[in-house]
Amino acid sequence: MELWSRRKFFLTSLAGTAIASANKLFGRTMPGGDSVPALANITSAAATGKRPLIISSANGLHALDKGMDILKKGGDTLDAVVAAVTIVEDDPNDDSVGYGGLPNEEGEVELDASVMHGPTHRAGSVAGVRRIKNVSRLAQTVMEKTNHVMIVGDGARRFGAAEGFEEMNLLTEHSRKIWLAWKAKSSMNWRPGIDSPEWKEYVSALFGNDEEKIAYAERVIAHPPTGTIPCMAVDSNGDISATTTTSGLAWKIPGRVGDSPIIGAGCCVDNEVGAAGSTGKGEENIKISGGHTIIEMMRKGMVPVDACLEAMGRIAHNYKNDKKKLGTFHIYFYALNKDGVHGAASLWRNGYEKSKRAAYAVHDGSEARLAECRSYFDEAGGDQ
Ligand code: GLY
Repeated sequence: MELWSRRKFFLTSLAGTAIASANKLFGRTMPGGDSVPALANITSAAATGKRPLIISSANGLHALDKGMDILKKGGDTLDAVVAAVTIVEDDPNDDSVGYGGLPNEEGEVELDASVMHGPTHRAGSVAGVRRIKNVSRLAQTVMEKTNHVMIVGDGARRFGAAEGFEEMNLLTEHSRKIWLAWKAKSSMNWRPGIDSPEWKEYVSALFGNDEEKIAYAERVIAHPPTGTIPCMAVDSNGDISATTTTSGLAWKIPGRVGDSPIIGAGCCVDNEVGAAGSTGKGEENIKISGGHTIIEMMRKGMVPVDACLEAMGRIAHNYKNDKKKLGTFHIYFYALNKDGVHGAASLWRNGYEKSKRAAYAVHDGSEARLAECRSYFDEAGGDQ
């Protein structure tokens, strides 16, 4: 009964081609290295550095110009990275970050973010924030206007309101409908009975019987995304800052916090060394303090991509390199060093779409482009 009704809910068998084209339809750049146009357009990790430099996960490709403008004008590195990710937080079409992020299991969008400012060795962070979309700037405000590092939940919302941040409903129609579909799939109660005349109309009403939209919903329901945008920059003087912002794991238990707001995991800067960030399953990153691990590896002389792979190896080690267990998730690390050398690693070779290589976004002065992540396992895998 349950299996039958689940299949019926989605009406179609949701062929792979429909899934592959769903991202295009929704106009989304999905988390942690997809929307890779063609292999030929992706460059490899830099061997020599260039400053100023700003990098992010692939979903920040269109936002790096803004950050680079600020760096070229001699602006602060933290202002540059926050300005870049604010574009993504404001974008209702990126359902992994800010406004339009996929919500928790109760249908509430809860956001996490952190910042680190290298030159002044300061940090700020917020977690589980409702109703405020620009949480990277909120984390920066925690850093600049309080003597705390981290504020969470309703306290963070009230702090934001006191500091003049606008409150709003962060759920878009798109994310609300996918949440309703998730509810319908995971609960017998949040849908018309299969014997009711409303049953067939229910799906039509949600998605207009559009197979591609249904395929996209099916994908994020089956594999809850942990999309995020980390962004880090080094200026021409070698000063470094970073931020990471996210709506976290879709359908999470209210109050669940991932790695993004955890200083030393989802975001880490040492102005003498470099910066690191992550997307993907935050729980795995938290367990190895990935950001801090990468910084310490770079301090010992590793180039960013090797430091990212070292962190990835620690995650694999936690599962004794068991690919079946590791295949239940995906994770990516991104890093740059003080010389402007950058690199990234992905657990699996693919990005969000299994057929495409994981990539990240880089801007070193001329134009933003995608660069290849080095993969820990040279095969496709990993739920998002
Ligand atoms: N990496 C984002 C999260 O797990 O929440």
